[in-house]
Amino acid sequence: MIFDILTLFPEAVNSFLSSSIIGRAREKGSLTVRTWNIRDFSKDKHKKVDDYPYGGGSGMVMTPQPIHDAWLHVTNGLTYKPKTIYLSPQGRVLTQDIARSLLQEEHIILLCGHYEGVDERILEEIVDEEISIGDYVLTGGELPAMVLVDCIGRMVEGVLACEEAFSEESHYDGLLEYPQYSRPTEYLGKSVPDILLSGHHVNIQKWRFEKKLERTREKRPDLYEKYRLSHPEEKKIKKSKKKKDNQTLEADIHHSFEQNNSAIKTDEHSKD
Ligand SMILES: C[S@@+](CC[C@H](N)C(=O)[O-])C[C@H]1O[C@@H](n2cnc3c(N)ncnc32)[C@H](O)[C@@H]1O
Repeated sequence: MIFDILTLFPEAVNSFLSSSIIGRAREKGSLTVRTWNIRDFSKDKHKKVDDYPYGGGSGMVMTPQPIHDAWLHVTNGLTYKPKTIYLSPQGRVLTQDIARSLLQEEHIILLCGHYEGVDERILEEIVDEEISIGDYVLTGGELPAMVLVDCIGRMVEGVLACEEAFSEESHYDGLLEYPQYSRPTEYLGKSVPDILLSGHHVNIQKWRFEKKLERTREKRPDLYEKYRLSHPEEKKIKKSKKKKDNQTLEADIHHSFEQNNSAIKTDEHSKD
């Protein structure tokens, strides 16, 4: 998968995306991430890339010419138009589902804005979609671009050890992940749950699934409700919601685990 990132701060983006898992994936060729300095494409003799907003107001706006030329440079000679995403606080808010759907793209161009934003005309010309990383405003699109590359990139084949490394994590199936433990078995007087030391893989999977439901219900009741609604087999449980909460959860766990049991792999896989 190829990412081309158009930015005024390639060094910031490169530094992060050269380290850890994404950095290694780039080195072994599972991912291609290229950064382009928009300033290099400015035709202004001082390499200016921004100007005052028409109509007044504070701050500066990124002018269209350098962005357009950078984009033309990246797309030059291609027989297809790479999906072009503008990182923007006005876009669709990124979720695991959106990241997963973007995984279908072979080539994505990411445009990072800065200052007050970008001249609207170039957005109309080259951008297919705007994506936000949350309902707040940052100084630039660089962090959001890194978030997007990291989030999509780790799902690209060959980047993590195996698919389970991300498919069992929070949000992938609409639930939060179960609690994790490592060595030592006892720390600050707290022990690792016995079940995890039992070596009984089916029981471990069942326990983990129970914990997923339990902590999603506790930490993110909104996600829990959505999950229940998207699982028709749980309609009956929803109707009997007047029952005590714990009873409902128990019924939920039983139903869902039975439904999912066949899909559960008993192998233990190492995570990233
Ligand atoms: C200060 S912001 C501009 C905000 C713009 N004036 C507005 O009110 O919508 C500068 C740049 O940061 C990026 N940015 C800021 N917040 C973002 C967010 N939540 N998600 C994605 N990109 C963001 C965008 O690329 C934007 O062009």
